Amino acid sequence: MSGLEVAPHNNNFGACIRGVNLARPISPETVAEIRNLWLRYQVVYFPDQPLDHPQLERFTQYFGCFGDDPYVESVADHQHILEVRREPGESVAPFGGSWHSDWSFQRTPPSATILHAKIVPPRGGDTHYADGIRAYESLDPVLRDEIDTLTAIHSARRPYSHEGYQRSGGDRRSMTILPSDSAWQTQLHPLVRTHAESARMALWINPVYTIGIKDMPEQEADKLLQRLFAHALQDRFLYAHKWSEHMLTMWDNRSVQHCAQGGYDGYRRVMHRTTVAGEQPH
Ligand code: SIN
Repeated sequence: MSGLEVAPHNNNFGACIRGVNLARPISPETVAEIRNLWLRYQVVYFPDQPLDHPQLERFTQYFGCFGDDPYVESVADHQHILEVRREPGESVAPFGGSWHSDWSFQRTPPSATILHAKIVPPRGGDTHYADGIRAYESLDPVLRDEIDTLTAIHSARRPYSHEGYQRSGGDRRSMTILPSDSAWQTQLHPLVRTHAESARMALWINPVYTIGIKDMPEQEADKLLQRLFAHALQDRFLYAHKWSEHMLTMWDNRSVQHCAQGGYDGYRRVMHRTTVAGEQPH
């Protein structure tokens, strides 16, 4: 018995896990149990886990190789850790402050993102999560049939091209963003994704990186995407996650979108983030 204490949310989207010390090596059985919980609940969080960089890296690698994290400068000497930081005097929108699934513009986007809270403001700064599996399952069956075979176009151009960077706060952000012409590249992915491990199907588009639909005129694609975003981001599919200092949260990018909230102007918020490499969506 691993001793994990698991408190799932009522709708089974999200679960709190206690009874494990992530600062110490954990057994393969406990890792397997955490993996199953993460697959089942999609967002899992562990309160009260003070971790240094190597401990965060070790925990991440229990779930696979590190992902490739472009466009944001990593922490010195820890190339796989990003610091998500917003200073008290900063007025631009929070990093990650629009709905997205991490790096969905990559050929093999990360399966997991792991975010560890270092400094949490006294109010605001939640992260909202949207359940793409329930969103898909609750679609009208006729619409489901229409979208099941569609291919979406993803790109990093909105936030990470030079033009996008200027629009999203540019140098006024305390994090070092590294805009690049490579952000104009596009990547095709199925609009409905079958999860590689659970085989559950999810609506897999997001307003930041999904810029069109293959073989569909731009206006028509935009109309359909807006309709699907509005469906996927209804309150009934969302979970508003509250942070506390040293909490570690891990979510499944293969079925979940997320969005960092503001509401803490005048306070500092600092998180450390890693990703786990994923597979090509199908
Ligand atoms: C992110 O999009 O990775 C950041 C989420 C957050 O800071 O809440």
